[in-house]
Amino acid sequence: MHSLLIETVTKRYGTTLALDDVSFVVDPGEFVALLGPSGAGKSTLFRCVTRLVAPDTGVVRVLGRDMSALGGQELRLARRDVGLIFQQFNLIGRLSAMDNVLAGRMGHASTLRVVLRQFTRADRQLALAALDRVGLLERAGQRADSLSGGQQQRVAIARVLAQQARLLLADEPVSSLDPQSAENVLGILRNIARETGIAVVCALHQVDLARRYADRVVALRGGRKLLDVSVNAFDQNAFQELYGAHPG
Ligand SMILES: Nc1ncnc2c1ncn2[C@@H]1O[C@H](COP(=O)(O)OP(=O)(O)O)[C@@H](O)[C@H]1O
Ligand SMILES: [Mg+2]
Repeated sequence: MHSLLIETVTKRYGTTLALDDVSFVVDPGEFVALLGPSGAGKSTLFRCVTRLVAPDTGVVRVLGRDMSALGGQELRLARRDVGLIFQQFNLIGRLSAMDNVLAGRMGHASTLRVVLRQFTRADRQLALAALDRVGLLERAGQRADSLSGGQQQRVAIARVLAQQARLLLADEPVSSLDPQSAENVLGILRNIARETGIAVVCALHQVDLARRYADRVVALRGGRKLLDVSVNAFDQNAFQELYGAHPG
């Protein structure tokens, strides 16, 4: 079963064709870089996966489930399998790293239980293991807003691990980080994919980072899929095709 299947997905906003007949699949343990300039449709694609946006046509399957066929509790459960990572980390600054990771146990529910600290022993063990995996166990008690950008992004990754997501969608996760932290975060995401079988789709601008960390590159431009190649095939010609050869 594919972790993610995108089949002939089209999405318009008024006259803007944000996604134009896009199809690809991502398998367990794969790290796919979703490359493309600003406006290419990367974020829209992620929103279609989580059904924040309904595609006009096409099918999205997460772990085999057709997201458009689900509602209510079924959709909530399906969304729990999808971990979201954003450029701006989206942590609760005044809470500790640990409490932010524990929030991953809540899915999309309110922060009330987080604030009340009503978590089981199993929840806490999962959260600590997740912090350990991103190398921040010793920062568990530290306020999130006192951590560096790279550390905050690692807490956000730990949060989706604690959520026990099986598909991670990272939307430009390194765009506000310094180069060293960016490499660190991408290395962690790559290792998670390899070692846990979680599928990672990571939107990036930087071709060189995609080349060094991804298994496969899917490139969008103007809402259309231009490339879907293994990283070994992503050579200078592919680069030209993505950023040079085609007008508009
Ligand atoms: N909510 C929206 N309303 C109108 N247009 C939108 C909306 N979201 C995205 N778009 C347009 O869809 C296109 C794709 O945007 P987006 O998915 O954000 O691209 P990317 O994440 O690759 O930068 C852009 O032309 C953008 O302006
Ligand atoms: Mg975007």
